[in-house]
Amino acid sequence: MILHPSPSELAETLEPVLEKSTRGRGRRAHERRERVGARPAVKPEAPDDEEGSSDRHVPVLYEEVLAGLAPHAGGLYVDGTAGRGGHAEGVLTRSAPDGRLLALDADPVAVEAVRERLAPFGDRATVLHANFRDLTTATRAHGWTAVDGILLDLGLSSPQLALPERGFSFHTDGPLDMRFDTTGPVMAADLVASLSEDELSALFYMYGEEPRSRRIAHAIVVAREHGALTTTVQLAALVEKAIGRRGATHPATRIFQALRIKVNAELDVLEATLPQAAALLRPGGRLAVIAFHSLEDRLVKRFLQGEMATCVCPISQPVCTCAQHPTLRAVSRGATMAGDDEVSRNRRSRSARLRVAERL
Ligand SMILES: C[S@@+](CC[C@H](N)C(=O)[O-])C[C@H]1O[C@@H](n2cnc3c(N)ncnc32)[C@H](O)[C@@H]1O
Repeated sequence: MILHPSPSELAETLEPVLEKSTRGRGRRAHERRERVGARPAVKPEAPDDEEGSSDRHVPVLYEEVLAGLAPHAGGLYVDGTAGRGGHAEGVLTRSAPDGRLLALDADPVAVEAVRERLAPFGDRATVLHANFRDLTTATRAHGWTAVDGILLDLGLSSPQLALPERGFSFHTDGPLDMRFDTTGPVMAADLVASLSEDELSALFYMYGEEPRSRRIAHAIVVAREHGALTTTVQLAALVEKAIGRRGATHPATRIFQALRIKVNAELDVLEATLPQAAALLRPGGRLAVIAFHSLEDRLVKRFLQGEMATCVCPISQPVCTCAQHPTLRAVSRGATMAGDDEVSRNRRSRSARLRVAERL
């Protein structure tokens, strides 16, 4: 029996596949699955784009994050995804009177909002416009070489989703942008205009886990011959026309997720950041990560498992010779998810998975 990789597994190698989009194992598996009409093996989490939008951001798993990070007086904390500052404010409050927080966000608008929100904490809070990919550089520049806690609350905030001009939502028309960092070089419209049909198809399949990716990619390539696709509603309507509508979820949801992941290099950035975060923690320091879809959660889970492993010898080897030293331990078993109560108050929370680990 031949076992084909799931879209999530393929996504880990998406960059090379996109570069060589007409060959390779991922491509062939993808084509085979499309021919037989099979669905991806991994059911995608409901992406943020499906949510109703609000210009207020309610932090998800708030108490669970704070319990996980366990902020204390005198502690040094990094919030890599400051958003609207909800979690950040909680960390500062619970690390009073002298705990300090460095808050980063790639989005200049978020940075301004968080600066304002955290102003009452004075010099205990510093807010920087930075990608968390630059975690080590940013903390060193701040004079910190080891910290007590790091939070990554991945994805986008409700205000980002609510603003049509950011291009994250297809509920209101806006430019196909989708950049967290509005100073960044590549927008979703650039990908839609420039990727080949094969590349678009691979992107939608792997980052959107969309089984009808080829049909959608073909429709885009045909449509763009008649004029540029530049707006969110234009793209959403095209996707709906290409594959029809079944069920409550808009068929463009997965396509928007895929484009957003690619525009912001979300999985690459996360992969590059997790080892930096682990290395930056002092013994007893905690790392908390909230993921919103299975691709990023799988990446976090695998990273943590690797750091917690006590042996990395091949399974066929009867005696351990690796002398592996784990660097992290799990604070809670598996992923923590929002309860029914939180989900009923904040629909965004239903896809959230929090994992917390402590530096040994
Ligand atoms: C879910 S929101 C965080 C909400 C925040 N925890 C709160 O309580 O308000 C995610 C934020 O992370 C930011 N972000 C996403 N990827 C980033 C990255 N690689 N570097 C820095 N910020 C990032 C987004 O711009 C967004 O503001």
